[in-house]
Amino acid sequence: MVEIVKSRDALAQALALIEAGDVVAIPTETVYGLAADATNGRAVARIFEAKGRPRFNPLIAHVSSSAMAEEIGELDPLSRRLVEAFWPGPLTLVLPLKEKASIHPLVTAGLDTVAVRMPRGFGAELIAALGRPLAAPSANSSGRISATTAEAVEADLGPRIPLIVDGGQTPVGLESTIVKVEGDSLRLLRPGGIAAEEIEKVAGRPLSRGGTSGVVAPGMLASHYAPNAAVRLDAQEVGRGEALLAFGPDEVAGAGGAVAARNLSSAGDLREAASNLFTMLQELDASGAATIAVAPVPETGLGEAINDRLRRAAAPRDSMANGQ
Ligand code: TXA
Ligand code: MG
Repeated sequence: MVEIVKSRDALAQALALIEAGDVVAIPTETVYGLAADATNGRAVARIFEAKGRPRFNPLIAHVSSSAMAEEIGELDPLSRRLVEAFWPGPLTLVLPLKEKASIHPLVTAGLDTVAVRMPRGFGAELIAALGRPLAAPSANSSGRISATTAEAVEADLGPRIPLIVDGGQTPVGLESTIVKVEGDSLRLLRPGGIAAEEIEKVAGRPLSRGGTSGVVAPGMLASHYAPNAAVRLDAQEVGRGEALLAFGPDEVAGAGGAVAARNLSSAGDLREAASNLFTMLQELDASGAATIAVAPVPETGLGEAINDRLRRAAAPRDSMANGQ
């Protein structure tokens, strides 16, 4: 049974769950978020599990100070100006990911950018107490609208999460505005709680809208990490010159001859597999193998999102530009 605790009494309990690698629904000024330690891959995998998301969208890393933001993203003078004007508040900045950032690759979906925002209220307190960023998408199951009350979170996700921190109705009621900083220019990826005009006033320049390929929605595939190697799915054996991405305890035929090999989870645990997916694809790609042979992954639970990601990695490159 999910516990619902008023925010003024919930800090220690929420912190203990997050430190133990669990998820907690928390109020922010925009909408409720489903939070987990952004540096813990298995904890982040639980977010996707609870939301029933059929794919791994990149998540926002929530910070409690601009110093914490500087540790994970590259801020330039323009983004610093926006931070000063709008944080804490409903503005998310998509920034180049710092090379040594401790953010788990499941948070960024393997991208070299990271979405960062500093929330107000309970979320900021929890992050400061944890000392690390929290990954949090809106606390609703896939395809449902964002929750602005603890009751709405309970009705939707109640059976799947241990704790909802009740901060009452969220004051903004809309998700954060997402802006991508591209050198001197700014792109609006998602309209939200701060009007584009307000951002334009502070930035002293217009926001561009729409993606380069006519794609507006954030986190689109075109910008997702795609391996250089070809990807061969449902591999029953490893061919010459191939690298192997295995899953589960069974040995794949010819595994001994693989250029490089990783196992997403030798125990066959999908949560562990999700947390290893992006790192292992990158490692196998770096081995220089022309092809990565991928053993079958079951289509259940998180397997659906894992397979979605693998199918995208295997798709012919120019059919990916508009994929969702
Ligand atoms: O107000 C909000 O932003 C709420 C609260 C909980 O903070 N969060 C929220 O998260 O709305 P979510 O996951 O529902 O939406 C975040 C959006 C997604 O559409 C995702 O694709 C995009 O941010 N996003 C995250 N990282 C990105 C990146 N590196 N590049 C482009 N888009 C990104
Ligand atoms: Mg959402």
